[in-house]
Amino acid sequence: MRAGILGVGHYVPEQVMTNHAFEETLETSNEWILARTGIRERRIAGEDTDTSDLAAHASIEAIEHAGIGVEDIDMILVATGTADYDGFPSVACLVQEKIKARQVPALDVSAACAGFTYAMVVAKQFIETGTYRHVLVIGAEKVSKKLDWTDRNTAILFGDGAGAIIMGPVSEDKGILSFDLGADGTGAEQLFIKDYLRMNGREVYKFAVRQMPKSIHQVVEKAGLNLSEIDLFIPHQANSRIIEEAANKLGVTKDRFSMTLDRYANTCAATIPLSLKEEINSGRLKSGDVVVMVGFGAGLTWGSVAMIWGK
Ligand code: COA
Repeated sequence: MRAGILGVGHYVPEQVMTNHAFEETLETSNEWILARTGIRERRIAGEDTDTSDLAAHASIEAIEHAGIGVEDIDMILVATGTADYDGFPSVACLVQEKIKARQVPALDVSAACAGFTYAMVVAKQFIETGTYRHVLVIGAEKVSKKLDWTDRNTAILFGDGAGAIIMGPVSEDKGILSFDLGADGTGAEQLFIKDYLRMNGREVYKFAVRQMPKSIHQVVEKAGLNLSEIDLFIPHQANSRIIEEAANKLGVTKDRFSMTLDRYANTCAATIPLSLKEEINSGRLKSGDVVVMVGFGAGLTWGSVAMIWGK
């Protein structure tokens, strides 16, 4: 039995914050941010909206898209680094209540911006052993509440949003082919949230440009494929230059990489499912396409999943 994706949903708050908004408060400019990161604008959640609200909205869309009922969900996993509560309860428990799911197991997966790929691989284990049939996997973040708005090195990079998928068994010629997960705890100090988000931008940049192509190579090789056979790469959206450098290193044209950070910036664990939904909505992703998702982030962590799209 192979685990695959049965439905996808996403949600972003309505409030748009453009780069120009930072020009009033920080020593920066729209031109600098756009040229150095590729970001034009991001969404910012209001005070009455927290991570679990974003997650619940995206989940409801994913459930509808999958054509199942909320009562069919057997487990809830939320990848997040910006939970509603510091510590507990998990966002997954809050989502369970908000979407009125059954009293199924619910837990958060903490692997920062690689969290969504980690959570997908956790779900895959339960599905392929026949333990659970439908797992709701969410990437959701309200990063804005953890930003130091006086720090131009970090404040400009992030946004709020959520994406969700329903995972379940799919036909033999579809679904997840391989995965590659890893972590390097020696880099823990390079990017962390303790009250506020702090980052050594240059070190994280170097790590991303090194690790992203490496993980893609691993996952493609494990799937028994060549890079030329991958129709679409969905990379974590941190910086367009990181994606372009990774594409260069792999010898793949950058048009095969999904790029949504111009509109949403870095929504941490949410960037991959957000981009996935945009690719479905635009009609670019079709049944039978080979997709590689790749995330990297604090930990330091990384994760890739190769799959054939469709049920
Ligand atoms: N506006 C204007 N100048 C800025 C700035 C801003 N918003 N942010 C930083 N700068 C300055 C720096 O202070 C530095 O000045 P200095 O040379 O006087 O010290 C200069 O720009 C160049 O800094 P540098 O770090 O070399 O810039 P960069 O081109 O590498 O871009 C980042 C900085 C943060 C955009 C880049 O390092 C990055 O994207 N890193 C990875 C971030 C990331 O992906 N994080 C999440 C991973 S999940």
